[in-house]
Amino acid sequence: MYFPEYRPRRLRQNENFRRMIRETSLTINDLIYPLFVTHGKGIKKEISSMPGNYHFSIDKLTEEVKKARDLGIPAIILFGLPEEKDEAASEAYDDKGIVQEAIRAIKKAVPDILVITDVCLCEYMSHGHCGIVKDGQVLNDLTLELLAKTALSHAEAGADMVAPSDMMDGRVAAVRATLDENGHQDSPIMSYAAKYASAFYGPFREAAESAPQFGDRRSYQMDSPNALEALREAMLDMEEGADIIMVKPAMAYMDIIQLVKSETGYPVAAYNVSGEFSMVKAAAAKNWIDEKKVVMEILTGIKRAGADMILTYHAKDVANWLK
Ligand code: PBG
Repeated sequence: MYFPEYRPRRLRQNENFRRMIRETSLTINDLIYPLFVTHGKGIKKEISSMPGNYHFSIDKLTEEVKKARDLGIPAIILFGLPEEKDEAASEAYDDKGIVQEAIRAIKKAVPDILVITDVCLCEYMSHGHCGIVKDGQVLNDLTLELLAKTALSHAEAGADMVAPSDMMDGRVAAVRATLDENGHQDSPIMSYAAKYASAFYGPFREAAESAPQFGDRRSYQMDSPNALEALREAMLDMEEGADIIMVKPAMAYMDIIQLVKSETGYPVAAYNVSGEFSMVKAAAAKNWIDEKKVVMEILTGIKRAGADMILTYHAKDVANWLK
């Protein structure tokens, strides 16, 4: 009878062996918790397609941020719902805008958590696109000015890091230059560098009320079959001054996370997006899967692929499970 000399099962026989040879660990340090802020008072309204996620008014938002801080989550990322949308995304860069006010309130109430802001115009545009639209086209270079203004207004309000998510060409350079000219040379940029035109953003568009009113985002977000192009996007953003490179979505793009990490050596963030979250929630609600085990497996897989940090709507649950 032949017995193999190397038996992988030897080191799987109990939890202590498994702990010792475990290659990847998910920790609370890896989590970034996305939050949606809206005008008004006393509002905590559940987003129907994203159970356990809410539109918060600022007063309720600070309570939620405190909970995240108490759980040990190091950072949140903020998305704003403006009072009114227009064709210039005016509230995006208004010093009294919803995100700017939210940053100030959080920094006052919970100074010891990082506040990251999503820098994009789609939530603030009446047509729902991420840039200025003329004759049905999303104009790149004119949009850069508004993005830079938006990022600056977030930094001035006290944001710790800005995260441009629009996918216009040259926006990291534009944001970097504007921040530097205004004394924010120490504010890092987390760039949504490889952001794909994805159907997995469906529930978010309800959450942020940002569905495009005509057409789609394929003229600026990436085409999903492409991997080397993601690397070019990452390299460009690094040259332009990005500090953290994001890949988004995560689950269908694990190869991109691995490629970007191994080829750049930069800190890599992965966005476990709304559709990925909602699929798990829906299946768990039907008892088709074990939610906790599935979530831990997905997020550990994202880390194993090479992500240093994960933006995820599961952040609070995971922090509780890891305690
Ligand atoms: C803004 C933005 C989107 C997401 C993050 N920032 C939507 C989009 O590009 O359509 C999606 C996040 C998610 O689905 O969880 N441009």
